[in-house]
Amino acid sequence: MKTAVTLDTQYLNGFVDERDIESISPEIMRAHDTVKNGTGAGKDFLGWLDLPSRMQNSLADIKDCAASLRSVSDVLIVIGIGGSYLGAKAAIMMLTPPFKPYRVIFAGHNMACDYISSLCELIGEKNVCVNVISKSGTTTEPAIAFRLIESAMRKKYKSEELKKRIVCTTDARKGALRKMAEENGYRTFVIPDDVGGRFSVLTPVGLLPVAYTGIDITGLIDGAIDASLDFSEPDMVKNLSYRYAAYRNILYRRGKNVEILSNFDPCLHFVAEWWKQLFGESEGKGKKGIFPAACDFTTDLHSMGQWIQDGTRNIFETFITVKNFPKDAVIPVMDRDLDELNYLAGKKVSFVNDQAYKATAAAHFEGGVPNMTIGVPDKTAYSLGSLLYFFEKAVAVSAYTMGVNPFDQPGVESYKNKMFKLLGKPGSV
Ligand code: PA5
Repeated sequence: MKTAVTLDTQYLNGFVDERDIESISPEIMRAHDTVKNGTGAGKDFLGWLDLPSRMQNSLADIKDCAASLRSVSDVLIVIGIGGSYLGAKAAIMMLTPPFKPYRVIFAGHNMACDYISSLCELIGEKNVCVNVISKSGTTTEPAIAFRLIESAMRKKYKSEELKKRIVCTTDARKGALRKMAEENGYRTFVIPDDVGGRFSVLTPVGLLPVAYTGIDITGLIDGAIDASLDFSEPDMVKNLSYRYAAYRNILYRRGKNVEILSNFDPCLHFVAEWWKQLFGESEGKGKKGIFPAACDFTTDLHSMGQWIQDGTRNIFETFITVKNFPKDAVIPVMDRDLDELNYLAGKKVSFVNDQAYKATAAAHFEGGVPNMTIGVPDKTAYSLGSLLYFFEKAVAVSAYTMGVNPFDQPGVESYKNKMFKLLGKPGSV
């Protein structure tokens, strides 16, 4: 293995055993062949498979653009929703040190009036630039946000100045955003045709905002390249991504139709949000699919912990852990021990948090929640790149094993059609 992604399954004992893995193996291998040979439903959207190595030649361009945006601004407003939002947010929130301003504000991922009005006011006060991201170029939320933000910017900057401050990431040829970029002379980056929104984090969709913050996007891509090698073999022992896909399907067939992705560090909160979209949109169709939920521990042990320990037994849990953090704190000794914590004096906070993780995994197992742990060694761009690819490969194989097309999302159109009708959009029925 080139990457250091790990999968610990001790707390699946009694729920899943090696015979189950053997019996589902042929199905996982069929799904592997389907992905590898591009013979399944959604086969036109397999560009993410070798995307990391294809992106290598574009990294210098993306870094240059990020540097020129940085040179004219204090803040980057990133406009996008779903796959055009969550990957960048996940990477920035995981890899930026806590309390360090990362100079990126996200917009167009909601239609909250107070949020967008306040942001437009902020444009008057801050030196801003914008990266508007939409593969289709027609999604309502980012389109409204861009119209408002661009209008606010026009009050402050001349057209020539806007060209230095606005970058559009969109389809190579079609969509309203492509047209607007061309008419206004805005710089563009292309989202490849064969990469769907939720698999686009390692295209300019994710890489440009991430590069703006100074995060090492080469590391991100290197981690994903190594993962693409580690998780390409049709080997149920070595290929942990396939094992994860297998365990999920076995548990699902036994009535465990909710998976909770739990972390013990808030830096992973948006990795879980990204994962929720990846797995939810890829698997939840045809009246099938595991519902992807997420918890932030130990915070949520004091709210959701009761339910997980003792509620309906239709859940399994996947922990994501990071082994080493750049900083740690040692608990000090206190003369009078009023808080009765001297038994922990001299211990690191990471040690206490680790015991909390071990205790939670054991307790939830005893409470009837099968659980496994995906681990990465550190909070680096390389490890995150590996983890993102691990999940992308797992969901493709897992969804095909479940019998659904991992790469479409027909269900998201229903609310849009009803909303367009309510809004009186021309042509809506
Ligand atoms: O995964 C998907 O395809 C969706 O979640 C899209 O990413 C999301 O709807 C945004 O679409 P677009 O980038 O076309 O604006």
